[in-house]
Amino acid sequence: MPSFLDLVDVAIRAAETGARYLRSMPRPPLAAWTEKARRDFVTDVDRAAEERIGTLLRAAVPGSVVIGEELTPAAARDAEVVWIVDPLDGTTNFLHGYPQYAVSVGCLVAGVLSVGVVHDVPRDLTYHGAVGHGAWLGEQRLRVSPVTEAARALVGTGFPFKDMDQLEPYLRQLGAVLRASSGARRGGSAALDLADLATGRLDAFWELALAPWDVAGGVVLIREAGGIVTTLSGDPDVLHGGSIVAGNSTLHRWLRELLASA
Ligand code: IPD
Ligand code: CA
Ligand code: CA
Repeated sequence: MPSFLDLVDVAIRAAETGARYLRSMPRPPLAAWTEKARRDFVTDVDRAAEERIGTLLRAAVPGSVVIGEELTPAAARDAEVVWIVDPLDGTTNFLHGYPQYAVSVGCLVAGVLSVGVVHDVPRDLTYHGAVGHGAWLGEQRLRVSPVTEAARALVGTGFPFKDMDQLEPYLRQLGAVLRASSGARRGGSAALDLADLATGRLDAFWELALAPWDVAGGVVLIREAGGIVTTLSGDPDVLHGGSIVAGNSTLHRWLRELLASA
């Protein structure tokens, strides 16, 4: 069985391989965009990146399984090592040349989320973390923000864009956050939002509907940087496609309570 640090090395190599491919590709022309659902785009670039990442992961850890957004989203999680891959998080940004998109690789070992890598593609930066080994940007150890006062907090979020039934309740939440905090940001890549939380650039974060591949890498970074991540209802198991709230322990509690009352 590979150690967590061996798995981190594999995940870094896979994410960086995918990122090099993404950086080598021109912006796909409009004719190449396909809508999986309204406002949910995909192109051959997403799929080709996932193919490269998955091939490397499977070869490096024989017997491991890849759950990947575009090619194998429903793969069974029954292997000892299960990778959870978003080959391009922030596809809409990529398509528009807006420089905020990432590769995210998380790893479950015996069913437990243990390793996470987020690679910021335009900036060529790799964040990595493993349970018990901390979260890192290169040699820099990551810590979540020490801010505990809501009025000083910069809060990251993601807008609902697929299920418009969520828009009304979400806008009430956004209003409550804007009134209570120092501001809100929507970058368009959940994986980078979570990395920004782990580095302390964002003080708290929430989004109502995220898939396992959006969050698996970043959740490990936040927890190893001393932060808390749960669903809106407080469940630490955030890999089932749903809401997510994150922050240091004070701001996580504050944001959960604020959202619940909005
Ligand atoms: C999306 C991004 C975005 C979030 C969406 C995700 P994709 O991922 O993470 O920030 O708001 O919910 O679907 O589709 O670009 O991989
Ligand atoms: Ca994604
Ligand atoms: Ca994606």
